[in-house]
Amino acid sequence: MRPHVVAQVAVSLDGMTSGFDVDLARFYALATLWQEDVTLTGADTILAQEDAVRSAPHPGPRPDGPLLAVVDSRARVRSWEGLRQLGYWSDVLALYADQTPARPADSATRELVTGYDRVDLVEALEILGRRGARVVRVDSGGELLRALFDVGLVDELALLVHPVVVGSGRRWSDGHALDLEPAGTEVFEGGVVWLRYCIRPSGLR
Ligand SMILES: NC(=O)c1ccc[n+]([C@@H]2O[C@H](COP(=O)([O-])OP(=O)(O)OC[C@H]3O[C@@H](n4cnc5c(N)ncnc54)[C@H](OP(=O)(O)O)[C@@H]3O)[C@@H](O)[C@H]2O)c1
Repeated sequence: MRPHVVAQVAVSLDGMTSGFDVDLARFYALATLWQEDVTLTGADTILAQEDAVRSAPHPGPRPDGPLLAVVDSRARVRSWEGLRQLGYWSDVLALYADQTPARPADSATRELVTGYDRVDLVEALEILGRRGARVVRVDSGGELLRALFDVGLVDELALLVHPVVVGSGRRWSDGHALDLEPAGTEVFEGGVVWLRYCIRPSGLR
């Protein structure tokens, strides 16, 4: 069975996902709500954090933590061991496609191969579900999120709206009309607002 997919995104008032200071402590405190089995992210999100991963403490895998699955069709991520040791996740899983470039021969990273030249997100989630994942939380700057919207894979959305206007960039929702059912609103100190929605499957409007 396909897992329940929730995406939490930090956004500016004009819908950008970068170019402003995210309240990371609040973002990750709120993200614990879902107790996800799998954190699903994209290669670009990981590449943007590589320096932080290198300099962070490495207490080792957290046995009861979620699995970190990274969509990386072009095998650009190299910091697998650092990610595994960060103390957030139980393990890491590289999501590759048939045409993903060869990996280092000594790579010990677990892999799941779906799709021809790009990861097949539908199949990857189905397989993760068959392996026991019930809840997947997407952590994306927007590109992976929009690809998941394209194939109707997101069930729940949480926006952590920051009181800032960035002025340029791509909006998290660009190109997508979503039918949303409000599921909760919370206002925090400093004007940060948390908006939660269930996404109705298209066709049920
Ligand atoms: N505001 C927030 O909540 C938030 C959260 C996370 C990250 N960020 C920031 O956002 C930036 C990175 O985000 P991003 O949106 O550029 O990248 P991203 O969310 O990491 O998504 C890019 C990944 O999605 C894959 N992808 C895209 N379309 C696909 C499709 N149709 N099928 C299969 N895979 C597909 C790409 O594949 P390929 O490997 O083939 O290119 C790539 O691996 C960074 O600056 C990061 O700090 C913000």
